[in-house]
Amino acid sequence: MAKPFVEFDHAGFTYDGQRFVFEDLSLTIPQGQFVCILGGNGSGKSTLAKHVNALLVPDAGVVRTFGCDTRDAEHTYFIRSNAGMVFQSPDDQLVASLVENDVAFGPENLGIENPELARRVKNALAEVGLQGFEKHETTALSGGQKQRVTIAGVLAMDPAILILDEASAMLDPRGRAGLMRVCRELHEAGMTIVMITHFMEEAAQAQRVVVLDSGCVRLDGTPGEVLSQAAVLAELNLDVPFACRLSLELQSRGIPVATCITESEIEEELCRLNSIR
Ligand SMILES: Nc1ncnc2c1ncn2[C@@H]1O[C@H](COP(=O)(O)OP(=O)(O)O)[C@@H](O)[C@H]1O
Ligand SMILES: [Mg+2]
Repeated sequence: MAKPFVEFDHAGFTYDGQRFVFEDLSLTIPQGQFVCILGGNGSGKSTLAKHVNALLVPDAGVVRTFGCDTRDAEHTYFIRSNAGMVFQSPDDQLVASLVENDVAFGPENLGIENPELARRVKNALAEVGLQGFEKHETTALSGGQKQRVTIAGVLAMDPAILILDEASAMLDPRGRAGLMRVCRELHEAGMTIVMITHFMEEAAQAQRVVVLDSGCVRLDGTPGEVLSQAAVLAELNLDVPFACRLSLELQSRGIPVATCITESEIEEELCRLNSIR
């Protein structure tokens, strides 16, 4: 088992001193994992994300990022500069009109200078599939490209973990697919990724899916284990992936298909059935 990279250890947090968003949350994310966090509106996903990079600190229990207690002010800078956050609206996160200036903003603030700065900008743009976009105007980009520039800006700071809080929510299907591809490639290259999303097809591609319900971990497992819990997901107002709904429906009609999560799995199952008929 890899050592915990992020650890919520019986953590409790309240905004107003009265109502706890989470009261006793324990959750460990090992280095290199790609985890998706699901949950209905108000279940505490963004609050959790902000604890990972010490934007918020717990009122009870402990949160450790990279082994450091997030309440310890001497670690705040280290944690923030190594835990990159990407939020929902790319327009709120872009700071410069030229792509290269936008991507350079974060590392410049960390004191990185040329030629290292230019190298980082170039590499980060390549990592998000926007090589050669240095001189493009950010306003002329699609939503998906803007969000990838935002990610490049975070990557140029050389973070150890990437936290995406509904980063694909405002994108069209193509933009979402591009963002997901970038995340998968970053993960394959070793990045730890925490992705908050309400798109089941994104969760299906993670290594692990955690479902939050009123600040508690309701489900935690592989996409196959979690996304097939149709009754729990429906109770929490979450979608059940199409492939899963279809396979459960076919099973209920006596058709012997396995419970599938992705569309390619159900496609395989249907082809298999067709070939043995
Ligand atoms: N800045 C804030 N001040 C007070 N309450 C907040 C604040 N942000 C979120 N909350 C409350 O905390 C709970 C969890 O919110 P949040 O973490 O944003 O959930 P999610 O991201 O899952 O929608 C909600 O009840 C929300 O109203
Ligand atoms: Mg949120």
